[in-house]
Amino acid sequence: MKTIYSAIQPSGVMTLGNYIGAVDNWHQMQADPNNKCIFALADLHTITVRQDPAKFHENAMSFYALLLALGLDPKKSIVYFQSHVQQHAYLAWLLNCYTMVGEMNRMTQFKDKSQKHSDNINMGLMDYPVLMAADILLYNAHEVPVGVDQLQHIEIARDIAERVNGIYGDIFTVPKGVLKKVGAKIMSLQDPLAKMSKSDPNPKSFISVLDDDAVIMKKFKSAVTDSETEIRFDPENKPGVSNLLTILSVATKKSVDDLVKEFDGLMYGHLKVRTGEAVCEMLKPMKQEYNHLIKDEAYLLECARENAARAEAIAQETLDRFKKAIGYVMI
Ligand code: TYM
Repeated sequence: MKTIYSAIQPSGVMTLGNYIGAVDNWHQMQADPNNKCIFALADLHTITVRQDPAKFHENAMSFYALLLALGLDPKKSIVYFQSHVQQHAYLAWLLNCYTMVGEMNRMTQFKDKSQKHSDNINMGLMDYPVLMAADILLYNAHEVPVGVDQLQHIEIARDIAERVNGIYGDIFTVPKGVLKKVGAKIMSLQDPLAKMSKSDPNPKSFISVLDDDAVIMKKFKSAVTDSETEIRFDPENKPGVSNLLTILSVATKKSVDDLVKEFDGLMYGHLKVRTGEAVCEMLKPMKQEYNHLIKDEAYLLECARENAARAEAIAQETLDRFKKAIGYVMI
């Protein structure tokens, strides 16, 4: 059996980038009977940026419902809130003592976020990758399916695991980041050189998986492409068109090569409309399920409780193993 672990922050909206780059991959991995899958809402990470309490609460419930609506099965996999399993924060503290300040200072995301939130460069923002390492290492994960932007954090989790194992022997499984073949970095619809991001101030740049069909169509129709007319896959020279082809490929399950042939002689406008329609179609069953689930708070909380208990059992075992190795008195 292989253990798969990943997580998403319940901040802002879930974007098409999150879905294509990560959650869709989790769903596919869950279908493999050789995988034991564990997926978290990384709600401890979320407060590294200041959150409005009511909105944060609403987002967390909404993201949990979305994960289930997108096909994560709380009976088959473990789907839980990070904040419900105390061992994450505990292990993060221990790992802090095996992580160098210099390593954290070099993290690209820390540098970016420090610039964006210069009025609130809190310790959590800097320590974020250590908490993420704790998430992954608690569950002895072999593979961590993520988008490209999280690879650096997984590298540091590997480094920390190897460092601890080097001191105490076999404590942690050393995880490997895995990327989707197509869609590991979905780009902004307004600036195809930048990643599609939920924190982008321009809402036209990203698709929320809960956007109405009309909004989705409008955003795709206004997607930035280039001044040529040829539809071909060339991320370097034609990032906008290539991004649309990538999204369309995932939404239709057709290869990019086949799509390029299909669009031979057609215009960018056709590609934009066809991509918008395919995305609406792809998201439709999830939206129906979501609308049903979000009204059933009792069910969602019951799932969250039960799944947190299953997660905790695994996490405690790992934490005890590490504490014992460090030399703590166990009672
Ligand atoms: P987050 O919440 O920013 O994003 C969740 C997942 O979505 C991927 N992603 C994308 N993939 C492709 N194209 C995009 N435009 C795009 N935008 C986001 C991210 O790479 C990620 O896989 N720190 C993490 C959450 C986390 C975590 C973990 C992940 C906490 N603990 C342990 C893995 C393992 C984060 O903020 O992801």
